[in-house]
Amino acid sequence: MKIILETKRLYLREFIPSDGFHFYHLNNNPEVIKYTGNSAFCSLKEATDFIINYPDYKAHGFGRWAVCLKETDAFLGWCGLKLETAINEIDLGFRFYQNEWGKGYATEAAEASVKYGFSKLNINEIFGRAYLENKASIKVLKKCNFKFVKKINYDANPAVLYSIKNDRS
Ligand SMILES: CC(C)(COP(=O)(O)OP(=O)(O)OC[C@H]1O[C@@H](n2cnc3c(N)ncnc32)[C@H](O)[C@@H]1OP(=O)(O)O)[C@@H](O)C(=O)NCCC(=O)NCCS
Repeated sequence: MKIILETKRLYLREFIPSDGFHFYHLNNNPEVIKYTGNSAFCSLKEATDFIINYPDYKAHGFGRWAVCLKETDAFLGWCGLKLETAINEIDLGFRFYQNEWGKGYATEAAEASVKYGFSKLNINEIFGRAYLENKASIKVLKKCNFKFVKKINYDANPAVLYSIKNDRS
């Protein structure tokens, strides 16, 4: 198990095959995927195969990470960075089990992911995209000091683009 970073309450680690269970159940909740453009996995095996074949750590040295509670090791959701190769931009993303919403976990994990991206990976700028209706997601970006860039279409939905720049770059 490779731990990437720690915060007060959380640690973020690389995915392991058993996270397929959590990916399956996360995406199986229509409320969780409502503003993501994703679908539910067809089966636990499909979700597990997705994790086993997740290419980003080897390809880029970073990716999305599992967010776990230090106190219990419970898997709460995922958060982290993704190189969007088609546009050469690095995106911040997050997704948590619905029963964990509103406890500040997304903000805590997102802030730490950005800090890691800037200090350890020397990334110049990180982008965040959210459907206009996804108020919680936009709130998290704002709390992490992301600034509004422009309105966009994201998976054919009205959305917003935010970004944060590395002040060392
Ligand atoms: C978006 C998501 C990750 C936020 O996770 P979280 O752990 O609840 O986030 P936090 O608790 O750190 O912060 C959420 C903030 O949004 C606010 N919020 C939540 N729902 C809101 C709403 N409908 N309108 C306005 N603000 C809202 C909360 O009050 C909180 O702000 P506060 O701390 O100032 O009170 C979570 O809702 C989620 O997993 N959603 C489904 C997946 C998803 O949409 N991911 C993002 C795709 S771009």
